[in-house]
Amino acid sequence: MKFSSTLLFMLTPAMVMGLLDQKMKAKGKRYFGTALDAWHLSGSDQSNIKMIAGADFGAITHENSLKWDAVQPQQGNYQFGNADAVVNWATSNNRLLRGHTLVWHSQLPQWVHNINSASQLTQVIQNHINTVMGRYRGRIYAWDVVNEVFEENGTFRNSVFYRLLGENFIDIAFRAARNADPNAKLYINDYNLDGPGPKIDAMIALIGRLRSRGVPIDGVGTQAHLILGQVGGVQSQLQRLAGTGLDVAITELDIRIQTPVTAQKLDQQYSDYQTVTRACLNVPRCVGISVWGISDKHSWVDSTFPSYDAPLLWDDWFNRKNAYWGVDNALN
Ligand code: G3I
Repeated sequence: MKFSSTLLFMLTPAMVMGLLDQKMKAKGKRYFGTALDAWHLSGSDQSNIKMIAGADFGAITHENSLKWDAVQPQQGNYQFGNADAVVNWATSNNRLLRGHTLVWHSQLPQWVHNINSASQLTQVIQNHINTVMGRYRGRIYAWDVVNEVFEENGTFRNSVFYRLLGENFIDIAFRAARNADPNAKLYINDYNLDGPGPKIDAMIALIGRLRSRGVPIDGVGTQAHLILGQVGGVQSQLQRLAGTGLDVAITELDIRIQTPVTAQKLDQQYSDYQTVTRACLNVPRCVGISVWGISDKHSWVDSTFPSYDAPLLWDDWFNRKNAYWGVDNALN
């Protein structure tokens, strides 16, 4: 069902509280979440953002402020101000938190790229994980322990981590993470796992090896940065990921539209969001969905892909889009 903006206007705040997250939980899932950062909570759009995040989203992921370059820009110099602001808001509003991310080749400070000893890098990974996870022990429900380790052809990405430690950097990171917060759910996370091919094959094979070595891993996150009209493979690939025996989560969902954005494309986005939401509902091991932001105004998409736009559930003026009602419809 699509709602007109007039009808929406007539709904009282109490009637719209908890819509998506509450409906997701009613389907037996853990959360429907979003990404945000400290500046969203303090900037000029903060009232819209807090209202929407408070009403629709049960889990929060830091968009940038928990990444390595944000929390440990120089060795041993930890900066938690922005990360704390998000954790404090989420905790005081009873939201779950997904921690993003501990070991990632991107947004990694130069001093880590410059390391050239395996033993030093091991210690640096362990210290980083201990310090960051330790600070939030018991308050962050799940962590993306390692992020984006694969190239599109399924080979390991040529990061400082892989160059010095081989695949073992993943084992080191997960073992440090379990040690730092034994109750947190530990995830591996990547993008372009939405269709068949060498990348998802490599991910499934890696998970098999990690499990056979006894590496503590609980889940696999599929980011799901999708393109309009190309969402048909999501459920079958989610099912394959669940076949590894891990929990699965859709961790960074957005569906970008090639410009010009037309009414017809926004209708297609309704059905694409519906399809992806149903995919998670139809896969028992899928614990939840997080979208990668609230309003199109703040999305990473248009600066990264200049010919794409409008990937999220709210428009630039914080009006619910058809896409929102696509999710809602799948949850009804
Ligand atoms: O921190 C600097 C700041 O000092 C400077 O003033 C400002 C000027 O533009 O730039 C700031 O850095 C930006 C950073 O976001 C924080 O706002 C970077 O330029 C910008 O490239 C960075 O983009 C983020 C991107 O990750 C970086 O890879 C996006 O906001 C964020 O949405 C995106 O998120 C990633 C996930 O972590 C992993 N999966 C893919 C996803 C989309 O790329």
